[in-house]
Amino acid sequence: MMRLRDCHNFSDFRRMAQQRLPGPIFNYIDGAADDEVTYRRNTESFERCDLVPNVLRGVSEIDMSVTVMGQKLAMPVYCSPTALQRLFHHQGECAVAKAAAKYGTMFGVSSLGTVSLEEARKISSGPQVYQFYFHRDRGLNRAMMQRAKDIGVEVMMLTVDSITGGNRERDKRTGFAIPFKLNLSGMLQFAVKPAWAINYFTHEGFKLPQLDEHVDMGGGTMSISHYFTEMLDPSMNWDDVAEMVRLWQGPFCLKGVMSVEDARRAAEIGCSGIVLSNHGGRQLDGSRAAFDQLAEIVDAVGDRIDVIMDGGVQRGTHVLKALSLGAKAVGVGRYYLFPLAAAGQAGVERALEQMRVEIERGMKLMGCTSIEQLTRENLRFR
Ligand code: LAC
Repeated sequence: MMRLRDCHNFSDFRRMAQQRLPGPIFNYIDGAADDEVTYRRNTESFERCDLVPNVLRGVSEIDMSVTVMGQKLAMPVYCSPTALQRLFHHQGECAVAKAAAKYGTMFGVSSLGTVSLEEARKISSGPQVYQFYFHRDRGLNRAMMQRAKDIGVEVMMLTVDSITGGNRERDKRTGFAIPFKLNLSGMLQFAVKPAWAINYFTHEGFKLPQLDEHVDMGGGTMSISHYFTEMLDPSMNWDDVAEMVRLWQGPFCLKGVMSVEDARRAAEIGCSGIVLSNHGGRQLDGSRAAFDQLAEIVDAVGDRIDVIMDGGVQRGTHVLKALSLGAKAVGVGRYYLFPLAAAGQAGVERALEQMRVEIERGMKLMGCTSIEQLTRENLRFR
């Protein structure tokens, strides 16, 4: 069995998580849609582009802080909101919130989060993002937004790339669903990971507190796929979102925008940011990597709104490449989820520390002391 001190990069953490997690849960995190082409491309996209360093610039002091959507972050990487974290490790979102606070960065709590917005707020005074889905029930949307406002959540992040569920074939094979509807092979995969089971069953029961108050989710009567098909509104359009932006009256961003036309509309309706994202390859397989699409979007709207990206980020140099193209910050998902699953808060902290060190080393080797010195002059595409 691997130990935390054996983990030096993304694939080490991934392997350690794989050793600890029952197969269906590991594959839920690791898997993506259809043939997983987009998932693979996300990381490959960074490899088609080279860094061109400058030397002899005096790099003893490095400042990697950024301001994004009005939030000051000590490092240009934040923990993107992801679902079901207490299923991966009993500390769940609490571990991520604590680690993000320690590193002075932003973290997101999902509508499908397993710790409440309130609890996360108590843990960290660092900038908190609320990942939001648009429900058919407009009253519910307003109530959920008001609750977030009352708690002091800084940034609203509406997911716009999940109007229907992606085709996750690994989940179909194992029967992964919430509540669990495992098939025989899925059950066997749980039986061989007793340490996970002990951790899971000896801690507070699984719940979805963002939704529990409004719908009967945790009681086992409603599965996540049911939630997506029954409760979310597939007719959601730009007018609906414009109204949400007006109601929120604060930093509001759309996660999952990819086209220039949509980026322009987001700016027009008053969004403060957009996250270029293909949902980690988990929704539309074959869609373009955010990094490949970044320059076009920054050129179109970068002077009006903050352009952020996520997808495939595993290294400090990936972050430097995205920032050089004009991204204001970079989100990570699996990058902290595997460490969470491997070792809870200590794992997430180790991953963020490695990212901080890699960014610092990369900036020094690039001859940059602050993020705005990273420009397209430092990049060449093959
Ligand atoms: C997923 C959703 C829940 O990717 O964000 O699984």
